[in-house]
Amino acid sequence: VIFSDSNEASIKVAEEIAALIRKKQAADKQCVLGLATGSSPLRVYEELVRMHKEEGLSFSNVVTFNLDEYLPMEKENRQSYWYFMHENLFDHIDIPKENINIPDGTVEGDAVIDYCLSYEEEIKKHGGLDFQLLGIGRTGHVGFNEPGSHYNSGTRVITLDYITRVDAGPAFFGIDNVPRKAITMGIATVRNAKRIVLLAWGQNKAEIIQETIEGEISSAVPATYLQEHKNCTFVLDTGAGNLL
Ligand code: GLP
Repeated sequence: VIFSDSNEASIKVAEEIAALIRKKQAADKQCVLGLATGSSPLRVYEELVRMHKEEGLSFSNVVTFNLDEYLPMEKENRQSYWYFMHENLFDHIDIPKENINIPDGTVEGDAVIDYCLSYEEEIKKHGGLDFQLLGIGRTGHVGFNEPGSHYNSGTRVITLDYITRVDAGPAFFGIDNVPRKAITMGIATVRNAKRIVLLAWGQNKAEIIQETIEGEISSAVPATYLQEHKNCTFVLDTGAGNLL
């Protein structure tokens, strides 16, 4: 779906998420959301916070699983995805703290292998993701599933692509400060979500969006795997949809 502006598009996506939360609430069920960081979902989070404050939208039945986190990364670090999520969403809504799941960037050594398996297990224990929000990186990554990521991959440690580290450089005051690794949900973790919405704004995403939607399905552009999902919508603005 191509919107004339990202603001209007973000409000529509926030409305869909709010409707799902309310539907689950009415059925006395938890709503399991997969969440993303980056600039793309910011306006969606802002709108959800507004709905909480002005319309009484409650997140008391919401459980969240974030896609990824840098490794190593301390929670309190301003560049952490933990910090990002609290600053832009969690600190402003009534979600119970124990319902928030973000990959832990402080796990050391081989313990990270078991940690990733337990993250995956926890998602399964909750019955899987009801809704997964995604952005897209210029390498075609979703979460941090860089080119080469396997269709059946689960939550694991990944080595970041050079382009991804270049793009993250300004936030870290230089590429040398960008971690080389990250923990990310896998392609299979994302594919198993019942509903997926991928957001992309602006002309600099136009090329990767064209490859993702019109290109051949391939691990070279991991986001192309989404073509096979039965309930996935790409929500774009005219810039990002420019080459379609
Ligand atoms: C990072 C995140 C991705 C995100 C991407 C794009 O690499 N790990 O999940 O989609 O950035 O970010 P932006 O939305 O700022 O373009």
